[in-house]
Amino acid sequence: MGKPIPRPGIMDIAAYVGGKHSVAGVDRAMVLSANENPLGASKKAVEAYRAAADSLYRYPDGGAHALRDAIGKRFDLDPARIVCGAGSDELIALLIKAYAGPGDEVLYSQHGFLMYAISAKSAGATPVAAPEKNLTADIDALLAHVTENTRMLFLANPNNPTGSCLPSSEVRRLRERLREDVLLVIDAAYAEYVERDDYTAGEDLVQDFDNVVMLRTFSKIFGLASLRLGWAFASPAVTDVLNRVRGPFNTSTAAQTAGVAALADRAHVEASQKHNSRWRAWLRQQIGGLGIEVPRSDGNFILMRFADRARADAAYEFLMSRGIITRLMGGYGLADSIRVTVGREDENRALVAALAEHRGAK
Ligand SMILES: Cc1ncc(COP(=O)(O)O)c(C=O)c1O
Repeated sequence: MGKPIPRPGIMDIAAYVGGKHSVAGVDRAMVLSANENPLGASKKAVEAYRAAADSLYRYPDGGAHALRDAIGKRFDLDPARIVCGAGSDELIALLIKAYAGPGDEVLYSQHGFLMYAISAKSAGATPVAAPEKNLTADIDALLAHVTENTRMLFLANPNNPTGSCLPSSEVRRLRERLREDVLLVIDAAYAEYVERDDYTAGEDLVQDFDNVVMLRTFSKIFGLASLRLGWAFASPAVTDVLNRVRGPFNTSTAAQTAGVAALADRAHVEASQKHNSRWRAWLRQQIGGLGIEVPRSDGNFILMRFADRARADAAYEFLMSRGIITRLMGGYGLADSIRVTVGREDENRALVAALAEHRGAK
């Protein structure tokens, strides 16, 4: 008997495993595993979400017009060049589906976000990782790995899970040296957390060049991870392609209306930025003080680097035993590291206390 067989490459995919949200035997775990906003969603967005319950029986606006207009106003971008998706994850998958297939290469940097490789494989394309320097994307290495088969290059800026970030001059240099038929996707999921003067999220490059796409999300600072909402800003040609390949109703009414409300609540975004800035610095300093290496991060998380995998695993298990959920980074080629989201004040203090206790116990 025959059986349905998926296309070549599909069974090579190691399915993405999201951050855990519970620990057996612990009632209220501290969830620092998924880079969510510890202040939650804007109350105004929650209200808008509740109001959307009245129209559950209606299809959403497939063009997400009000949301795209609101994004356009807020970021000073042409709404006609914005496409919304079910998280930036969906937009990553759609871009790859549209621009790469068997025999094509999708390039990204060594410790880049996992969904680039997963989506490349699911489209039958070949993921290619270029080495990093000091846990930071290396523009020259990326350029050196471009071949005649390269169709797309993904750069998360800042990158998850390393937290490293490139200045806009470096990203521009990458684009200027890249072949014009290679699509450069700048994934700026953590843009709102960056405090460097030399940073842009990539919209300037999209305005200047037709082969650049910027991706953004409502899952991080806007605190709407559960609603699955992201957006792309691209050239008219790439926008047209995305609109052809996306599902006709790929974002829900609840997500669209909550997204509009979240954009309008500037105070919540500012409070989230301030909170992150303060506690990210505090965590880095406190955890560094315990002898654990913590590289600079421009995101809403930090990476804790241990001497080896065994020490990282032991620290992870100890934190779990204290009800603190973090994330091991073996899937990113960083088996000696743990990523921790900047949490609420009580969570951050509990984390540092538990790490100190663990060190004392050794
Ligand atoms: C760099 C990066 N890009 C994209 C995403 C996906 O976000 P979304 O929730 O919008 O699908 C994440 C989520 O962690 C991320 O870290």
